[in-house]
Amino acid sequence: MAPEKDPDELKKGFCWKLCQSRLCLVLVFLGMAAGIAVSVPMVLLSKSLRERFAPDMKWWQKTIVYQIYPRSFQDSDDDGVGDLRGITSRLDHFQYLNVKTIWLSPFYPSPMRDFGYDVSNYVDVDPKFGNLSDFDDMLKTAHGKDLRVVIDFVAGHTSSDHPWFQLSQNRTSPYEDYYIWANGTTLPNRTIVEPSNWMSVFGNSSWQWSDERRQYYYHAFLAKQPTLNYRNPTVVEEMKNVIRFWMDRGVDGIRVDAIPYIMVSEDYYQDQARNYTATAVWTKPAYYITNLTKNVPDIGDIVKGWREVLDSYEDSDDDDDKSRFMIVELYDTPEVRNRYFEYGADMPFNFDLVTALDNHYQVHGNFCAAICIRDAINNVYDNLPKGKWANFVLSNHDNRRAASRMGELYVDAVNMVLLTLRGTPTTYYGEEIGMEDIFVSYQDTQDPFGKKYGPARYQEKSRDPERSPMQWDDNKNAGFTNSSHPWLAVHPNYTHVNVEWEKNSTNTTTLKVYRDLAILREEPSLQYGLLKFTDVNPDILSYLRSAEEHPHFLVVINFGQVPVTHDFPGALVNRGQGRVKVVTSQAANEGRFAKDSSVPLTQIKLQPGDGLVLELAESGK
Ligand code: NOJ
Ligand code: MG
Repeated sequence: MAPEKDPDELKKGFCWKLCQSRLCLVLVFLGMAAGIAVSVPMVLLSKSLRERFAPDMKWWQKTIVYQIYPRSFQDSDDDGVGDLRGITSRLDHFQYLNVKTIWLSPFYPSPMRDFGYDVSNYVDVDPKFGNLSDFDDMLKTAHGKDLRVVIDFVAGHTSSDHPWFQLSQNRTSPYEDYYIWANGTTLPNRTIVEPSNWMSVFGNSSWQWSDERRQYYYHAFLAKQPTLNYRNPTVVEEMKNVIRFWMDRGVDGIRVDAIPYIMVSEDYYQDQARNYTATAVWTKPAYYITNLTKNVPDIGDIVKGWREVLDSYEDSDDDDDKSRFMIVELYDTPEVRNRYFEYGADMPFNFDLVTALDNHYQVHGNFCAAICIRDAINNVYDNLPKGKWANFVLSNHDNRRAASRMGELYVDAVNMVLLTLRGTPTTYYGEEIGMEDIFVSYQDTQDPFGKKYGPARYQEKSRDPERSPMQWDDNKNAGFTNSSHPWLAVHPNYTHVNVEWEKNSTNTTTLKVYRDLAILREEPSLQYGLLKFTDVNPDILSYLRSAEEHPHFLVVINFGQVPVTHDFPGALVNRGQGRVKVVTSQAANEGRFAKDSSVPLTQIKLQPGDGLVLELAESGK
């Protein structure tokens, strides 16, 4: 079923907008003169007139979120590692793209065993990335360019180098219970083993013995990432203070890392039951039913507490648009995701498109692509709680790049889907130019998750391939660094897959298509209008986006492997012609479609990977 949710639920703010129109000024004047309340004339306005005004959307519903992996974006001091000053120097890129929000993966002090997702001080900047004043400069410059800044909040675990852990390990008050400590279980032969069979996400036991404290501590990820103890109210307060520290500096929101793992059951000694339906190997958590170590209900109160902190900033500001945003990271079904809406997150990340694109890759042979993508999208909308806002993602620092999963041919097409859906899109750096994964040998592998699996299997797990340096131009190291040793290699295709080339080329390029989409996305129909799938078959994905009294848009894409010729349904679209607003690069460069030309909606011929966003003349009812 296509989403039928009425955008009316978003329309609380229309009165204000209405009051800016001349028509309403007149009405208000008349109304006041007659001693009638201001609201009365508005009620008398026709529904269709009301539809002309945009709903009251929060800034995070209107924006594209762009994920920056700071190590890989721009190096300013030639040490081969990206940094905050580098980011500041590249902020114009977002103005060009029409992207209004950036999210920064961790830049806090860290021994970098998980490249910053192992924090040793939450309220500072790692010297590799700069210092707090570089952060403040970056934030100020970003705000000056109307860009919001969201930061990563690695809430569940610290680095084992964090002073809290050191003090907890040697039982210094008040840190004893900052982490999850448990005695081992003594077997009949007197050997001491882990308290239970709980597994780390990165494989093997999640209990690590501490010689110093002579107890085990719990870690959901690497052993050097001990999990904090949120059952200790002091820890809860410490972490709220971390949020306050960054909000006080003016940060616009947080992306909460790995939310399902921030707490575990209190019963450390109870084994997880075996999950006989999962195919996971015994060293992975999914081998067991994970109810004791994942999404435990007590997480709800913690998220609620963070919401209150964030809201206190919004409340202290009259401007509605100053709301502080919280998105939480989890890979799960809508049923589980939805709990986090209830707890107070603005959005739980939705990675269903990442999975759908994997399916595309696997089932390419039998042309399931478009249907898989439609089903994934419908599954999101159909399960979205009333009044809640969807979001979509194609890739990130933990997943393969879209071009490497789908093939170069489909890059523009997937960006087209991402940017024309109803919901907030997140773009991983480099996807706007169609970057591809790099090859990294085992010797050069940086990611501990990859290394852990050894030379035979590291490629299955290593996340280095999707973390390669941003490709800015065709200079040495793609303009990322002047060092001859970038921390990861630059993809050899940087000579033609780079921002400068794609910006200045006389051809249509992935970058230009992305920008066209990002600009067009501000159209009411694309921003908040309904989405209805029109024709979908194994090759074609097509849907209509429509807000009443505004131009409607028809998206048509060939995700198959053969050319298709198709009529687009009269009943739903009810238009003879469409005007091409965005066209994928290959279709444009090979002369099949030209921007701003009119095309009849019958017999549209699309090569594999071709996609169009067509504006339908007058809107139909
Ligand atoms: C999720 C992050 O996205 C990932 O990169 C990291 O390794 C784990 N959390 C552990 O922090
Ligand atoms: Mg640097």
